[in-house]
Amino acid sequence: MKLSIIGTGYVGLTTGTCFAEVGHEVTCVDNNEEKVRTLLDGKIPIYEPGLAELVKKNVAAGRLKFTTSTPEGVQDGEVIFIAVPTPPQPDGSVDLSYIEKVAREIAEALTPDLGYRVIVDKSTVPVKTGHKVAETVRRYAEPGVDFGVVSNPEFLREGCAVQDLLEPDRIVFGANDERAVTLMNRIYEPFVAPVLVTDMESAELIKHAANSFLALKISYINAVARICEQSGADIEKVAEGIGMDHRIGRSFLNAGLGYGGSCFPKDIKAFIAISESLGYPFELLKQVEEVNETQRELFLGKIRDKLWVLQDKKIALWGLTFKQNTDDVRESVAMKLAGQMLEEGAEVVAWDPQGIGTARKFGNLSGKITYADDMYSCLDGAEALVIGTEWPEFANADLAEVAKRLRTPLVFDGRNLLDPHTASAKGLEYYSVGRPAVGVTDSAAAAV
Ligand code: UGA
Repeated sequence: MKLSIIGTGYVGLTTGTCFAEVGHEVTCVDNNEEKVRTLLDGKIPIYEPGLAELVKKNVAAGRLKFTTSTPEGVQDGEVIFIAVPTPPQPDGSVDLSYIEKVAREIAEALTPDLGYRVIVDKSTVPVKTGHKVAETVRRYAEPGVDFGVVSNPEFLREGCAVQDLLEPDRIVFGANDERAVTLMNRIYEPFVAPVLVTDMESAELIKHAANSFLALKISYINAVARICEQSGADIEKVAEGIGMDHRIGRSFLNAGLGYGGSCFPKDIKAFIAISESLGYPFELLKQVEEVNETQRELFLGKIRDKLWVLQDKKIALWGLTFKQNTDDVRESVAMKLAGQMLEEGAEVVAWDPQGIGTARKFGNLSGKITYADDMYSCLDGAEALVIGTEWPEFANADLAEVAKRLRTPLVFDGRNLLDPHTASAKGLEYYSVGRPAVGVTDSAAAAV
């Protein structure tokens, strides 16, 4: 089928590429000329495992092309996906101006001779946005234009987006028009996954409700971790024990510094805002946010407790990205932690397998953080190591080398990556989240 994607950000580029990979002919549109030039040169503007190869392959096969022209996209695509940003506004509600602008541009490019076209909302939007899109297109398109509107939320995770798109857990779309459903079913025919077809509003809600539920699991386990710290229990064992109940499941029960990224913080705020505007103050989700925000502060408290003052202390930070396997530092908890430590006068030397370039470019701490050349030299002479992101290379680190390189062998693990007993056996004084500290040397007590 001939498809177009308007917006070549994370979702647009990966979705368009995977549609091409299963055999559709895809036109990707972006108004950023530099980005389109980069893509036409065969380079991709983001780090996403496996994506560059697929872009190259499908461009070469003639199934994937890039343009800055929305009218070209509207001409080409029988189904036109909108995948533009939906950033948060200061009050937490979603800025829908990009969606509205694209809906107008599509409307202006539609003509009756094109026949029936489907406009699909892929961006994460509040419930009822689809209706607004339909209204806008109707208002700006010439009479006689025939179209349907669909909500088709995306559930990909950064870092494994290609796999999530090619082998999704489920495909959800919502439409109030049978012709649109038929076309959507044809698009997703090559994918082996259960398909749930709903009305438009339910599909829109599913996305916000799913992300909020995952965030709720994270804040729940982080709240339980606080009780573990007060009682001497071990959050890893507790998570294992409750996760063995198949109704709960073990995933998204990793205690730590809390969630970040371009999706959860924004989507939870947006869901609270839309619920409020629909007459339901979603107090439960406000608590989810509250736990997430204070989680970082509690962790910082442990560092302060031990180092006493941070002023002029060299602190090694492993991890800058909001999670592993991405170069994305948007709303990264590790970056926020770095910012706070810098504010308190510490010298932060950081290492990240993929995030240094993006942190330099977008992290707004440029010139303040020092970036190390590699994972171990990052530690040289530092008073402590802080782990901010769950990269597997940190979990597999050579702990004897860590102990040797640090000035004082203090480790604050914000992602519970290390095994406490191994850490203490290698001579580290080790603090994590929701687990007893090990290898603690209390010099005050020793002096008494
Ligand atoms: C998330 C959802 O998982 C996707 O299903 C959704 O499609 C996507 O948002 C989106 O809305 O586009 P993503 O933002 O890539 O995907 O990241 P996650 O893997 O969900 O992780 C989010 C954050 O939660 C990270 O900061 C991670 O460190 C944290 N996290 C995750 C925990 O603190 N504990 C956990 O157990 C799991």
